[in-house]
Amino acid sequence: MLTADQTAIIKATVPILESGGEALTTHFYKVMLGEYPQVRPLFNQAHQASGAQPRALANGVLMYARNIDKLQELGPLAAQIVNKHVALQVLPEHYPIVGACLLRAIREVLGPDVATDAVIDAWGAAYQQLADILIGAEAIVYDKLAAAPGGWRGARPFRVARKQAESAEITSFYLEPADGQPVIDFVPGQYLGLRLMRPWPRASGMSSFCIMRGTVRPVLSAKRWRNGPCAIRASAISRSWSMAARTKPRRWAAQ
Ligand code: HEM
Repeated sequence: MLTADQTAIIKATVPILESGGEALTTHFYKVMLGEYPQVRPLFNQAHQASGAQPRALANGVLMYARNIDKLQELGPLAAQIVNKHVALQVLPEHYPIVGACLLRAIREVLGPDVATDAVIDAWGAAYQQLADILIGAEAIVYDKLAAAPGGWRGARPFRVARKQAESAEITSFYLEPADGQPVIDFVPGQYLGLRLMRPWPRASGMSSFCIMRGTVRPVLSAKRWRNGPCAIRASAISRSWSMAARTKPRRWAAQ
């Protein structure tokens, strides 16, 4: 629980951080993706280039901090973040990384005169409070998905059973679980987190895809970009899953 002094410090420093425009979010993004390769795969690779995702994250933390004394009013928004985090497989061990990068960015952007020990302590406590709320809410969703019929925890290997060219640019991928077991209920329009793995160059990345159709097996449709393997259509995730799709990357990219 934050003290009254810490709450006052947070409320006073959020506008200063926001008035610096992109300084905080850009610095945060650079430090986190530069120094913590383990979180890079969580961020969509196309968005890594633009920095859109880490900026969304840093802006989200600021927005939360602005409402630090009325967090109960952020219920629906928290649910949206929780769904996104679960789809991307954000885990409790990632939170200290984001927290360390955030505090470092605050210290370096505000400078020692403003970012005193009291300011950094207050931000550390505020971040921890938000992290605890999200970690707890995400654990409930992860448990629910694991316990549902056909559900699972973490990544589940799927095969691309069939590919169908829908047009010159769009290909549909028919997925089936490698273990042949049932798959949790899903609905067209639901977004699905995929971890795409490339053996060479060795890399993996998380992406969200929209399930276009399917009754017992999901069907995803991907659009090819000129400078990337496929487009990602992301928006609100109604139910979150994550799976590891075993695809042959060159064929994936070439389709
Ligand atoms: C207190 C901690 C955190 C807060 C308040 C927070 C908040 C947010 C918010 C508000 C968004 C934007 C959601 C939207 O666009 O609807 C977001 C996105 C995201 N967060 Fe978190 N986050 C936190 C921790 C983390 C951690 C620990 C990770 C893992 C490294 C993470 C990874 C992401 C990613 C990858 C996105 C981008 C999602 C997208 O653009 O689709 N976040 N976060």
